[in-house]
Amino acid sequence: MKLLVIGSGAREHAIAWKLRQSQQTELLYTAPGNGGTAQLGTNLSISATDVTGLLEAAHQHKVDLTFVGPEAALASGVVDRFQQNGKSIFGPTVAAAQIESSKAFAKEFMARHGIPTAQGVAFDSFAEAQRFLQGRDGPIVVKADGLAAGKGVTVAHSRAEALAALDACMNRQAFGEAGATVVLEEFMEGREVSVFAFTDGLRLSPLVAACDYKRAFEDDQGPNTGGMGSYSPPELWSEELTKEAEEKVFRPAIDGLAKEGKPYRGVLYGGMMLTKEGMKVVEFNARLGDPEAQVILPRLRSDLVEIAGAIAEGDLSRASVEWMPLACVGVVMASQGYPDSYTTGYPIYGLQGVEGQALLFHHGTMPANRASPMSGGVATSGGRVLTVVGCAPTLAQAREKAYAALQRVGFQSAFYRKDIALRAI
Ligand code: AMP
Ligand code: GLY
Repeated sequence: MKLLVIGSGAREHAIAWKLRQSQQTELLYTAPGNGGTAQLGTNLSISATDVTGLLEAAHQHKVDLTFVGPEAALASGVVDRFQQNGKSIFGPTVAAAQIESSKAFAKEFMARHGIPTAQGVAFDSFAEAQRFLQGRDGPIVVKADGLAAGKGVTVAHSRAEALAALDACMNRQAFGEAGATVVLEEFMEGREVSVFAFTDGLRLSPLVAACDYKRAFEDDQGPNTGGMGSYSPPELWSEELTKEAEEKVFRPAIDGLAKEGKPYRGVLYGGMMLTKEGMKVVEFNARLGDPEAQVILPRLRSDLVEIAGAIAEGDLSRASVEWMPLACVGVVMASQGYPDSYTTGYPIYGLQGVEGQALLFHHGTMPANRASPMSGGVATSGGRVLTVVGCAPTLAQAREKAYAALQRVGFQSAFYRKDIALRAI
């Protein structure tokens, strides 16, 4: 088969790596891809949201199956357009992906279907939101309705902080259109776990869980990032929690979307908070997580081409989905200054040195031909640059492997968190 992966991060490199392992894979394209995906196949310089360009490329290269990585591609309608044109594609339609792309939709959907989540109210008027805040004190969460690259959420510890976040969203358009509607939400306390299932809209695969680290520095200090590390499985994840997630969250979500005429095909990601009152949904996402994909895909015993193909055809029963009892720890190596401003173009050394020791997935890297001629290899081109993943029978061994490999690879101005999976052990 000829396959196309849409996206350019380490998540997409991990997806491409896993698809490459299938006997069925003949040619692999990634659009736009990165320095890592270039080593697995051909990068096409088409943006992940250029739906027309992607469809043309899929026709031109006779692509049999397309796998969508990022939420922006889903929201731009790539799945709908491919389906209308008879092209097989893995991922939810725009209507089903609203579970991620509109927090107001997700909130109301969860209420309609009795899915446990924080109490929340949506507002499209600043004055009304402000009035709502007047009656309360203590922490409250302010969320921009639309996609804001993970930056649209403020956990406000006081009314003043909440008002400032509201003002930034609604009056000063900090997130553009995405902040025109805002959800004000009850603050929840507990451990957070990312839970994933493959689904064809009817059937659910066995669930798999991971934890990620959003803050830039150790001990959860510093600004929020796209993710600085992850591990799977979480030490506290159990049969009971799996059952609770399936019965209270995933099953009602899939059935609810189908009943509302938006059958969901793809991978559903539930961001869960384990509160004193039980498991509650923080948010749904319509895709694999980044950096969670980098630690769960190595645990997938099954053939990802088979799974994606079966789901694209609407029949997951044709594929098996099996997770290995393996521990994986992923550490992100980033450019000094990220998530704010940083310098790129530095040659990366030691990429070959970790082969056989750890897995290495690229985020912001440039393939050799675009890197500086001096480097003779791959250079940095983004804030997050690499995810290094160690896999072993125990989390402690996996962690050791990841950090040992991190000693061998690097670039000028690299930094990474030293405490990924540390407290889990
Ligand atoms: P989201 O983009 O909805 O995942 O929110 C980003 C982060 O904000 C989450 O991973 C949580 O750590 C935090 N957060 C979101 N909603 C709540 C809530 N209701 N209570 C406490 N923390 C929250
Ligand atoms: N790891 C968080 C996300 O992918 O949204």
